[in-house]
Amino acid sequence: MNINKRKKEHLEIVSQDASDLSIGGNAFSSLKLNYMSLPEVDLSKVSSETEFLGKTLSFPFYISPMTGGADEAKSVNEILAVAANQTGVGMGLGSMRAYLEDESLFDTFNVRDLAAQVPLIGNIGLVQMNYGVSIDDIKRLIDLFGLDAMSVHLNPLQEALQPEGDVSFVGLLDKLQSLIKALDVPVIVKDVGMGISSDVMSDLVEVGAEYVDVSGHGGTSWSYIEGQRGSMSLADPFVEEGFNTVDLLFDNVLEFPEVSFISGGGLRSGVDVFKSVALGAVVGNSARPFALAAMKSLEDVVNLIEEWKKQFQISMFVTGVSEIDSVVGNRSLLQKKNV
Ligand SMILES: Cc1cc2nc3c(=O)[nH]c(=O)nc-3n(C[C@H](O)[C@H](O)[C@H](O)COP(=O)(O)O)c2cc1C
Repeated sequence: MNINKRKKEHLEIVSQDASDLSIGGNAFSSLKLNYMSLPEVDLSKVSSETEFLGKTLSFPFYISPMTGGADEAKSVNEILAVAANQTGVGMGLGSMRAYLEDESLFDTFNVRDLAAQVPLIGNIGLVQMNYGVSIDDIKRLIDLFGLDAMSVHLNPLQEALQPEGDVSFVGLLDKLQSLIKALDVPVIVKDVGMGISSDVMSDLVEVGAEYVDVSGHGGTSWSYIEGQRGSMSLADPFVEEGFNTVDLLFDNVLEFPEVSFISGGGLRSGVDVFKSVALGAVVGNSARPFALAAMKSLEDVVNLIEEWKKQFQISMFVTGVSEIDSVVGNRSLLQKKNV
């Protein structure tokens, strides 16, 4: 199947609530703030600004890589890019394999000018390096689209459930090592919502990974989405599999202090971003809620980001901190029984 048609189907299925495991509660809702009745902080003086990839974010957040390729993807990416720039958060582009296969799709990824002030993060499946994508191709993407970082996704389960999936994952760790060495921008290693376990982390650290988006379970379910496109009876037993984002941050952050962790997978509010940063992530991200907002309007995306930022700042206020540096890795901002 044509990759553009696949990306279009993904956007359609993502609109169904059943694709989001966080509806009705996720791992973040079991983790509570260490609320202080007397915080000694002026909310109007709280500063949530932080640096990421050499640029300033208004709070530690970026929109996860999602789309590009299809016509719908062009307008979604343009809306997300304008909203990200206006509100001061980072912007992720979806898999850029579509452009490598068909250069007429340039415009659907070309948002650098719309998001000039904020980090712009590219994306490609690492497995594509077993199917003809070279390091030079990826370098070309970085130059052409003005990327500040390249994220590479690991998605064996998703590929296995796709009727047309690319399923040879042999030798990819060596290829990742070569890629990290060859690129002038950081490589962000991510999953797509099943989670990067500490076993895999050890391998990633060995080959020099410095940025890892844990991309845990509990939000968008790619088993469900690919099940809807192919066989739901094949995919169904996998929907509950994976490592949840909160557990991954608990374990990985302390075990691999040399890595900058990014929290993704099931974040559904600015409070979830705050909890992620308190657990030690340098930044959080989210995908599905922003795809849904972008399919409505620019205003919907801007309002959603502003609301998450406000929730992040209120979380700082009610836990008694006014500087972002006092949040990062400060697990005492979360209730003790959970940390
Ligand atoms: C519509 C849509 C398209 C996506 N496409 C990509 C992609 O091209 N590359 C990628 O690495 N992840 C992709 N993802 C996965 C997200 O980046 C993220 O890892 C995952 O959805 C979990 O985050 P969430 O629970 O906040 O949605 C996509 C997610 C959505 C919702």
